[in-house]
Amino acid sequence: MNVNFKELLKWFIKRIRKKIRSYSFTSQDRRHSKVGLIGDWKEKREFQINFLRSIDLKPTHFLLDLGCGTLRGGIPIIKYLNERNYTGIDVRAKVIKEAKKELKLYHLEEKKPKLIYFKKFNELKFSKKFDVIWAFSVLIHLKDEMLDKCLEFIRNNLKQDGRFFCNVNVTPNEKLWRDFPLILRSLEFYENKARKHNLKIQIIGPAEVGIYYRFNDPEIKHPIIKFTKIE
Ligand SMILES: C[S@@+](CC[C@H](N)C(=O)[O-])C[C@H]1O[C@@H](n2cnc3c(N)ncnc32)[C@H](O)[C@@H]1O
Repeated sequence: MNVNFKELLKWFIKRIRKKIRSYSFTSQDRRHSKVGLIGDWKEKREFQINFLRSIDLKPTHFLLDLGCGTLRGGIPIIKYLNERNYTGIDVRAKVIKEAKKELKLYHLEEKKPKLIYFKKFNELKFSKKFDVIWAFSVLIHLKDEMLDKCLEFIRNNLKQDGRFFCNVNVTPNEKLWRDFPLILRSLEFYENKARKHNLKIQIIGPAEVGIYYRFNDPEIKHPIIKFTKIE
């Protein structure tokens, strides 16, 4: 058999398999595939609420989910928090649209979360500062300039004793994800950036709360960092 024909046949079989597999996906699988790998949204949802409860998030806390996407993580957080205490923001209109559908699916509109599509951090104005800001798998997609704007925004919108948690990528595997880069940076890099914005960081790892987020590949570790104000 000609090699090119063999390759073509392999490619064709792969396409057919993918198509067949796609019939088994639910509409929720498809929705959450806009923010990550198809099929693992339940695990990522559970991880986020468990982590936030482990750092003592209280229903009375005012939380900002920065880069909330399709509410893959947001649904149990909204359920847990008191009415009006959840705000989700994202730079993609299409994921905010999906987030609103997800909210409806769980009949959680009565919790009155705010879901905001925005383009630039300086457009966002909030009447209250946040106790907790959470960014799951977001900072790893921000280029340096955007990361600076993001930390400046966080510094301005966090209560004096507020805490900002995020996971970062310190495993060498830089590539593209959707329209965003996937960026590896050292912990020292985040430490320096934090200092620049008058923030300090602490690594939340196994020693502190027993959480060190792992994606499907056990080699890819995304430690969680806590940022707090210096004074
Ligand atoms: C990997 S997804 C994670 C979504 C959500 N945190 C979750 O766990 O399901 C990253 C999200 O960050 C959003 N994003 C990218 N750049 C952003 C920025 N500058 N500000 C806010 N969100 C951003 C993307 O649109 C995307 O929805």
